Amino acid sequence: MKRVLSGIQPSGQLHIGNYAGAIQQFVRMQDTHEMYVFIASYHALTSMRDADALRANIRQVVIDYIAFGLNPEKTNIYLQQDVPAVTELAWLLSCVCPKHMMDKATSYKDKVAKGIPSSVGLYTYPILQAADILAVDPDLVPVGEDQRQHIEITRDLASKFNHYYGDIFKIPDAMIRREAGVVPGVDGQKMSKSYDNTIDPFMDEKPLRKRIMKIKTDSLGIDDPKDPDTCTVYQIFRALAGPDAPETAALSDRYKNGGMGYGEAKQTLHEYILDHFADARKKRIELMDDQSYVDSVLKAGAEAANKIITNVTDRARTAAGL
Ligand code: TYM
Repeated sequence: MKRVLSGIQPSGQLHIGNYAGAIQQFVRMQDTHEMYVFIASYHALTSMRDADALRANIRQVVIDYIAFGLNPEKTNIYLQQDVPAVTELAWLLSCVCPKHMMDKATSYKDKVAKGIPSSVGLYTYPILQAADILAVDPDLVPVGEDQRQHIEITRDLASKFNHYYGDIFKIPDAMIRREAGVVPGVDGQKMSKSYDNTIDPFMDEKPLRKRIMKIKTDSLGIDDPKDPDTCTVYQIFRALAGPDAPETAALSDRYKNGGMGYGEAKQTLHEYILDHFADARKKRIELMDDQSYVDSVLKAGAEAANKIITNVTDRARTAAGL
């Protein structure tokens, strides 16, 4: 059985980009793969300074993972701060990482351009991500399109370490759901927790509708035929429903034929989201009241992850001469 590792930062409420780009893949893989899915709390420290908000977000991401369909019986769910050996591994990797490799990473520049304060942690963020991954010896890392460069850096760092010290790390493959692409937010830019443009599938019905109605569109009239592929409403719908779903084809036809205004397209998206996430919304409310269950999931997840992580870190430490 192939082993899978992935993670999400608890830097805000999860959104449809996280779901379509990453979580949907995790849920689909859990019957056929050995799964490790974690909450990247150390990474969130690169952009969050509010300790109470971070604590609350961390728990919320665990609850939302399970509400979206991750089954703790099949998927090991754990917090990054419960597997501290990963930070030691990050140090070992940072010592073989040429500085220019970080200079070339685009996420640092993008985040600083968006107003996230520059810090050494933000700059070396990809090294910690490489440690998260390599520490559990995974075969596959399912992520959204925006994480492609981070997985490349992980593979490069693993090869560098192996070059100096022998065959220590398995080189994992990224698994990117092409059809989701980079899911756009209400402003048409990449949907992102830090850009205030997200759609949160757990919002109450009315604010959710209001949010969807905010999606930017062009000014074509109701009767005009429209190009679905350039419309943010359609792109979000397709990422969520999948390009081959009959609902996606039907919506595409309605764009092309004319006679459907953007208001109606948004209404279709709103209804689809409410329907698609109906079970998740119910489950989330139940889980909010069951904190001890969440604790037990995290304890079991950390135990399982630590077994592997301690082993891999020992292997790397010994190989490096410690
Ligand atoms: P994060 O928290 O930004 O996003 C979590 C996952 O959601 C995907 N994603 C998207 N996919 C499509 N369209 C979007 N608009 C969109 N926004 C987010 C991301 O690609 C990701 O798969 N650095 C990572 C967290 C991390 C990690 C790891 C991931 C830390 N260590 C080890 C995998 C393995 C991040 O910031 O993801």
